[in-house]
Amino acid sequence: MNYKIALIRGDGIGPEVVGEAVKVMETVGAKFGHSFEFTDVMMGGCAIDAVGKSYPDGTAEKCRACDAVLLGAVGGPKWGHSSDPDQRPETALLSIRKDLGLYANLRPAALRPAMAGACPLKKETAEKGIDLMIVRELTGGVYFGKRERYETADRGIEAADRMAYSEMEIERIGRRAFELARMRGKKVASVDKANVLESSRLWREVMHRLAKEYSDVAYEDVLVDNAAMQLVRDPGQFDVVVTENMFGDILSDEASMITGSIGLLPSASIGDTAPGLYEPIHGSAPDIAGQDKANPVATILSVAMMFRYSFQLPREAKAIEDAVDAVLNEGWRTADIAAPGQQVIGTQRMGQLIREKI
Ligand code: NAD
Ligand code: IPM
Ligand code: MN
Repeated sequence: MNYKIALIRGDGIGPEVVGEAVKVMETVGAKFGHSFEFTDVMMGGCAIDAVGKSYPDGTAEKCRACDAVLLGAVGGPKWGHSSDPDQRPETALLSIRKDLGLYANLRPAALRPAMAGACPLKKETAEKGIDLMIVRELTGGVYFGKRERYETADRGIEAADRMAYSEMEIERIGRRAFELARMRGKKVASVDKANVLESSRLWREVMHRLAKEYSDVAYEDVLVDNAAMQLVRDPGQFDVVVTENMFGDILSDEASMITGSIGLLPSASIGDTAPGLYEPIHGSAPDIAGQDKANPVATILSVAMMFRYSFQLPREAKAIEDAVDAVLNEGWRTADIAAPGQQVIGTQRMGQLIREKI
């Protein structure tokens, strides 16, 4: 079968990690008899430089013409000072998520056996295992609420960001979480701040309704501050963690570190219709960009998620995941996951080793 893939390479390490992931796709294609047609779509800081807009006209249409989108990362210090927030590279990312209706962001954080030594938690905690799935709401909440900046009579300038959720938005992400839990460990932890926020109180009401409907799934409410603490105390207690946009952003970076490095964790951003968008959870890492230092595993595993969720190709997905495990088991390490004194390899070598295992 032939698949059309939109590539948003983006900024910083984005092009480096997407480059390796594309080669992995070609290797998988050759082995399993699929072909891929790639279309480059420019978005983010590089698009500001090229055409003066971070989200050029037609970006969403180009993506919609494809079966799936693979994204590296956007943003960086070069474009951080734009006076117009609509012109930030990161705003383009929010726009593409919204325009493609990608309300569910699946961020699996699993401690791979070979990475136990890179887990910064206590040995006993790592040995218990970590395998959780953060289901982050991606097109609502404070990221998309009205933002304002205005002059007050007595307090100088004030800035505000509105955080709003509708029942519909909460229910559809909740359903995704319960459905996923049914295929995994049958547990959902819903993370909110219902002791303070009205949007969280509505969130909780809707989740409780769903919990009754999905009575075969164990359900609990966890306040977000406690969730942040529990993630480092005993992450093994969690299966599916469902939460709103900003809490999910923050908790998934935390969850990435307990599994070794942010350079390892993939994500799938999906809605009710194709295409889905697949992206590592990390950013453009300007501090290591252009130096062949970035870990490409998160982006390569995002391709595995693409195969599984967009193309229903579980065999191909598993071939990638097994290849990553095999390379890590042999002790190959990029700088972010190397123990002191351990030999370090670069982005391209890591990609090549993974392809050789496929
Ligand atoms: P970051 O994730 O880019 O980097 C945080 C730290 O993790 C850095 O030390 C970096 O070197 C390291 N790191 C990240 N990915 C790595 C990898 N694959 N291999 C090895 N090390 C890796 O976060 P930041 O520094 O806060 O943000 C940098 C820029 O990226 C900002 O402009 C931010 O807005 C943007 N960003 C974009 C995305 C995205 O496009 N999806 C996500 C997060 C941040
Ligand atoms: C992520 C990033 C983005 C987010 C930023 C760059 C807009 O941090 O994908 O996790 O907050 O969603
Ligand atoms: Mn983030």
